[in-house]
Amino acid sequence: MTRRNVDEITGNRRMRRNRRFEWTRRLVRENRIATDDLIWPIFVCEGKAVSEPLGSMPGVFRHSVDRLSAEAKRAAELGIPAIAIFTNVDVAKRDIEGSEVLNPDNLMIKATKAIKNATDEVGVITDVALDLFTSHGHDGILRDGIIVNDETVEQISKAAVLQAEAGADIVSASEMMDGRIGAIRDSLNDAGFQDTGILAYTAKYASGFYGPYREAVGTDQMLKGDKRTYFMDPANSDEALHEAQLDIEEGADMIMVKPGMPYLDIIRRLKDEFAVPTFAYQVSGEYSMIKAGGEMGFLDEERAILETMTSFKRAGADAVLTYFAPRIAELLSNG
Ligand code: PBG
Repeated sequence: MTRRNVDEITGNRRMRRNRRFEWTRRLVRENRIATDDLIWPIFVCEGKAVSEPLGSMPGVFRHSVDRLSAEAKRAAELGIPAIAIFTNVDVAKRDIEGSEVLNPDNLMIKATKAIKNATDEVGVITDVALDLFTSHGHDGILRDGIIVNDETVEQISKAAVLQAEAGADIVSASEMMDGRIGAIRDSLNDAGFQDTGILAYTAKYASGFYGPYREAVGTDQMLKGDKRTYFMDPANSDEALHEAQLDIEEGADMIMVKPGMPYLDIIRRLKDEFAVPTFAYQVSGEYSMIKAGGEMGFLDEERAILETMTSFKRAGADAVLTYFAPRIAELLSNG
């Protein structure tokens, strides 16, 4: 048998030609990351003049409300389109129902106002999930060991209106209760907030990557059990399509997949199927993993960060919530 040469095998097609130079690689590049696609999640705590570093998320802080104006201005200067707020509420203010979510002067509300007062160039995304306000750290109201759906939906629909009144541009729902998007849309509309958007955490998985976030918002010690009766099973993919269909029908303006990197296939499926604005959440555990790898010298942190961003774009994400947002914005502006 005569051995064929490479041209005979490839029919003259040599894939490496386009990879030869930086300029050819630039010309054929399919995806680009941009500061326009970043959403910066910020942790907020009680107190004055506080900026506490988080042990499991090197480089990330919990800021008191008075420090938020500076952070918001930084986001504006960097060109980051939006900030997502997460709060660490005192244990004393937490209860089984998370009723503090309905306090019109709660930490989420104060943080929203502070950021809106600091700049009008940055969008504010709030969250109605009750884990930020419950004494048990679950995302809903707990009755006899069960996270009750409909009562939770009623509570978070009211919270959405308070957050919109405080200036939230987009209200997000990260608790995976059934019927929440439609209920939030109705209450926002009834209260005259037709233009306030809703970001649905559409495919939120019961994931092992949320640990550092729970430390940041103070739920790591209080949480008993897990969230498998309301978050999605990591083994499921078709179910995400079903969730997305409902969220879109109920009025979601954008849908999201969370966590990010382990679920790139879900982002792609949702984007292909529904073609609506689809976000990814690169969660706390993903952040910590990359930081740890970088600090140990096991990987080139900067490269890894940009590569993960590229992978979200390639999978079809329109925007990405990431704790790396300011770092990425800086890297992109320095060319
Ligand atoms: C729950 C919520 C979670 C995150 C944000 N909101 C998950 C959880 O604690 O169960 C995780 C974000 C992250 O890990 O960065 N409403």
